[in-house]
Amino acid sequence: MGPILLTGGAGYIGSHTGVELLNAGHDIVVFDNFSNSHPEVLDRVEQITGKSVHLVRGDIRHQAELEAAITTYNCQAVIHFACLKAVGESMERPLEYYENNVLGTLQVLQAMRATGVNTLLFSSSATVYGVPQYLPLKETHPLSATNPYARSKLIIEDILRDLHRANPEWRIGILRYFNPVGAHESGLIGEDPLGVPNNLMPFIAQVAVGRRNTLQIWGRDYPTPDGTGIRDYLHVVDLAIGHLRALQHLDTPQCLSLNLGTGTGYSVLEIVHAFEKSSGKTIPYEFAPRRTGDVASCYADPSLALAVLGWKAERTLERMCEDTWRWQHHNIHGYRS
Ligand code: NAD
Ligand code: UD1
Repeated sequence: MGPILLTGGAGYIGSHTGVELLNAGHDIVVFDNFSNSHPEVLDRVEQITGKSVHLVRGDIRHQAELEAAITTYNCQAVIHFACLKAVGESMERPLEYYENNVLGTLQVLQAMRATGVNTLLFSSSATVYGVPQYLPLKETHPLSATNPYARSKLIIEDILRDLHRANPEWRIGILRYFNPVGAHESGLIGEDPLGVPNNLMPFIAQVAVGRRNTLQIWGRDYPTPDGTGIRDYLHVVDLAIGHLRALQHLDTPQCLSLNLGTGTGYSVLEIVHAFEKSSGKTIPYEFAPRRTGDVASCYADPSLALAVLGWKAERTLERMCEDTWRWQHHNIHGYRS
């Protein structure tokens, strides 16, 4: 396969996927506006792989920039990561979220159509299942959205299904990620949120490294064994490898939705204790009220990805914590360290 365009390829998941693609012999073109990432990440990807990354600074809302990138490098497939992803912010600024995520995706699809590229992997999220009606979640679970970020993912999924109905020659993989955590084992790349982390693992890592004092655990009265929320955390390198397998699978026309998770749920307290063990640091925490919109438990049935792709998440919770810690304590302030 020719070069692959990674929109949002400088971000957390895009950079780890870039490493796996390069290691597997693919050429990659990163298309990013660095609204939520740092150019330094691409030097690190090159350092890890010993290969070079083509970079196009551009915005997915501009079709002409996307077309130029695809034609300049003769890209044969697109992995579309670029997105705004903070749920709370999406409730305050819905128009910006719909514009960036939905309008931006339309530009990506139109640029692909104009250049004759019809192989696409799209970053969706377990958030499209809304409040779970049963667990573990299968791909056939009803879809719904409770905030603009989630709705933007759902709208895009619907657009992709419509596109495939109208143009069955398209090859589309909709990947529904559960909770990606961890970092590359080199400690050179990892998650580097701007401002206060919204998600659990980067917050814990910043407490461990001394950037923040105390973790607030949102809710201790959920109907779970220890009262704290349960999620399906998966190692970002396993997730990246899932993209590689999915891309290999897109050798025939289809529109396929797949869960990428481990199938195992861990509670907030279990994550805190696992991180303390891996890092040797104490994580001070206090209980706080539930976060609006949070569900008690959410975990995948990952059996379809195993059956279709032969993919299974392999890295343990211990690995997720060790690798997060290696990244964080070598890069206290992330790529700005
Ligand atoms: P990230 O913010 O680290 O990466 C997104 C990248 O897209 C950033 O580099 C950002 O600069 C870029 N970007 C944003 N808007 C852009 C635009 N208009 N034009 C060009 N580039 C733009 O996020 P991530 O965690 O790597 O997430 C990647 C994808 O996976 C997103 O679509 C996200 O919704 C999805 N996802 C993430 C998680 C998670 O927990 N991290 C879970 C489920 C789904
Ligand atoms: C969040 C997003 C969701 C997205 C998912 C994966 C929200 C409301 N939801 O969900 O849309 O698909 O990430 O990226 O942002 N927690 C704390 N204290 C913290 C941070 C988190 O107790 O400081 C708890 C949460 O209440 C939850 C668990 O930790 O029980 C995991 O939280 P988080 O990492 O934000 O992931 P999700 O809740 O799954």
